[in-house]
Amino acid sequence: MSESAFGIYVHWPYCARICPYCDFNVYRARGAGNAPLIAAIEADLAAHAARFGKRRARSLFFGGGTPSLLRGDEIARLIDAASRAFALAADCEITLEANPEDAALFAEHAAAGVNRFSIGAQALDDAALKALGRRHDTASALRAVNAAAETGLRVSLDLIYAREGQSVEAWREELKRALALPIEHVSLYQLTIEPETAFARRVSRGQLTPPGMDAAAELYEATQEICGAADFPAYEISNHARSDAARSRHNAIYWQGGDWIGVGPGAHGRMTHEGQRLALEAQRRPADYIDAVAENGAGWLSETALSGEEAGDEMLMMGLRIAEGVDVARIEALRGRSLNRAALAWLSEQGLVAHDANCVRLTPAGRVLANSIAAELAV
Ligand SMILES: C[S@@+](CC[C@H](N)C(=O)[O-])C[C@H]1O[C@@H](n2cnc3c(N)ncnc32)[C@H](O)[C@@H]1O
Ligand code: SF4
Repeated sequence: MSESAFGIYVHWPYCARICPYCDFNVYRARGAGNAPLIAAIEADLAAHAARFGKRRARSLFFGGGTPSLLRGDEIARLIDAASRAFALAADCEITLEANPEDAALFAEHAAAGVNRFSIGAQALDDAALKALGRRHDTASALRAVNAAAETGLRVSLDLIYAREGQSVEAWREELKRALALPIEHVSLYQLTIEPETAFARRVSRGQLTPPGMDAAAELYEATQEICGAADFPAYEISNHARSDAARSRHNAIYWQGGDWIGVGPGAHGRMTHEGQRLALEAQRRPADYIDAVAENGAGWLSETALSGEEAGDEMLMMGLRIAEGVDVARIEALRGRSLNRAALAWLSEQGLVAHDANCVRLTPAGRVLANSIAAELAV
């Protein structure tokens, strides 16, 4: 990816209900009105452009939280603010993370300029959806997919597997059903028990027992097999696309070491600016974010210049996630030292990585160990 890859992430932190497994920066929507936060995000977009220049964005991603709670005119306002602050490429990917229960708004989201829906179905199984604390059932997830497909836009689906009590056979059937829907992309996440969540408390009290490592590995293998057979190959550890054109262009910016700004409470950004790789983070609480924008004109809480080594290691960890792997020379130039050649030889002998002079990539067996392999190579 060229140096100029640039994208915009907008974090909308509100959800109708907080799911017991989720540790994103989320807050329960209390119907207090969206206008102050929208205005703060608009101002923050302009502040980022004043700081970093009017870069050309190839992607604009509304993530959350639940940005599909926003009406079409609110989304349109934010797209307009992004396009005034930055130049949006003619083929800019504009993704909305959408909860199934907001399907009635999809047509207005599309009319506002969204061109890709990422629908959080999470499961196609009513008991599992209940156990995940979701407000929708399977029928409404299927209705949401159809409503999104009817807009004629790109549709992706999120599912969570390795749920308590989930058998490999049941997951195979559920996944096959999902892959037969009118979608071009799926994100398949293994349930992670995040610290400080309601699920973590249930696990510690013995009230919830997620599958162990062996069972999770079996579910992962079945996932790869079913997706491969349905022509949804993995192009990243958790992401599968029907074609190259169906891949997430926004996430490619993260995986390939591009630049992005993050606006909205708690959003993160990475910008290469005046020869430095900057890590930016916005105020997490919506009220603090709004106050920061009012006081300083911008919502960022902290800005850290990464060392070359930190930037290189981050690029290694993110880049190993994708099928193409990483450009060794680019990473070594950033780190100012080479990757661990002895570890590379050993990992390659074990069949966990494949490499040539320019590129290191994970084999299917290596993908489940991505983070520890990145750590070995970085020593
Ligand atoms: C930030 S969430 C927002 C999506 C949207 N609000 C929803 O819930 O449908 C993005 C995705 O992360 C995944 N996710 C969140 N918490 C997770 C966890 N603890 N384990 C695995 N996947 C998780 C879910 O699949 C979810 O769709
Ligand atoms: S999973 Fe989605 S709906 Fe549930 S709390 Fe997290 S962001 Fe909100």
